[in-house]
Amino acid sequence: MDASVFEKRLQQETAYAERVLREHLPKEEGLQEKIMEAMNYSLLAGGKRLRPILMRETYRMCGGEDGRAIERFMAAIEMIHTYSLVHDDLPAMDNDRYRRGKETTWYVYGETMGILAGDGLLNYAFETAIRAFQETGTEGTEESVPDSERLARLERASAAFSVLARKAGIYGMIGGQVVDVMAQEEMSQTNLLFIHAHKTAALIQAAMMAGAILAGADREQVAAIEKCAYNIGIAFQIQDDILDVIGDSEELGKATGSDAANRKETYVTRKGLEQAKADVEALSREAAGILDGFTGEHEFLKQLILTLIHRRK
Ligand code: IPE
Ligand code: IPE
Ligand code: MG
Ligand code: MG
Ligand code: MG
Repeated sequence: MDASVFEKRLQQETAYAERVLREHLPKEEGLQEKIMEAMNYSLLAGGKRLRPILMRETYRMCGGEDGRAIERFMAAIEMIHTYSLVHDDLPAMDNDRYRRGKETTWYVYGETMGILAGDGLLNYAFETAIRAFQETGTEGTEESVPDSERLARLERASAAFSVLARKAGIYGMIGGQVVDVMAQEEMSQTNLLFIHAHKTAALIQAAMMAGAILAGADREQVAAIEKCAYNIGIAFQIQDDILDVIGDSEELGKATGSDAANRKETYVTRKGLEQAKADVEALSREAAGILDGFTGEHEFLKQLILTLIHRRK
């Protein structure tokens, strides 16, 4: 795919993810409206929308068609990811004031509201995804859906929901953040990989696996996607560590030097910049190779993974 065609397609997919997210924002109303305001502030601050894009592209590659269930899950994964950032930036965690080109949620709304907005986003993600269960049989303009198809959709939604929940929790992202905050300056390679695999790769796995599952992929295909997303996720976090050292804060929309300020051991402090870059490339190429085992169209998805090798934000 030509670079300009790819760029155009990426813009379209980002705009689509953005629209889906906007359709799922909580209304700012009631005595508690402050929390909806803080949630929407963090959700609309920007961001690459990578996880919903990966989810939808995997869904399409596995034969999924436009529908409401996938959109519910796209919005949900972005809410979970955003909550993880809102909490990650808190003074008790990385203590960052700048995110997605704006002041962080806690810095604008105060620490208490930052905690609650994160809680709200996590819970609202599940409130959003679970709507897919209630809508099986009411997709698009279909008039009647046979019971067997309704049941199949319900089973897929429930399997996708379960992956989303597990990968976000103590066996996934939260587990990674726990080991991250407990880390000493000297860390084993095993612990560093655990942190990357859980705090970052897990939500990318959740995105792609949920996409595959909702499209009706079989067990073997979902396992291949889990491995592919693992590689993408590890590469993504290594690149994040690299950009914390050599990135441009303006372009990134977040402060650089945060890891050094928190005395964190990262992939870069451990392996050096050159090795880190080489590993991002190797992991990404391997991930792209896994996609070639799929017969569905995946040219854009593959190029997206390869483009991330050189991402600057
Ligand atoms: C940042 O994720 C946190 C990491 C897991 C490294 P992104 O780089 O995807 O952040 P946004 O969504 O574009 O702001
Ligand atoms: C965060 O890792 C991963 C999350 C689960 C939020 P970092 O702490 O390195 O992410 P940034 O650099 O603040 O985006
Ligand atoms: Mg952190
Ligand atoms: Mg951080
Ligand atoms: Mg970082």
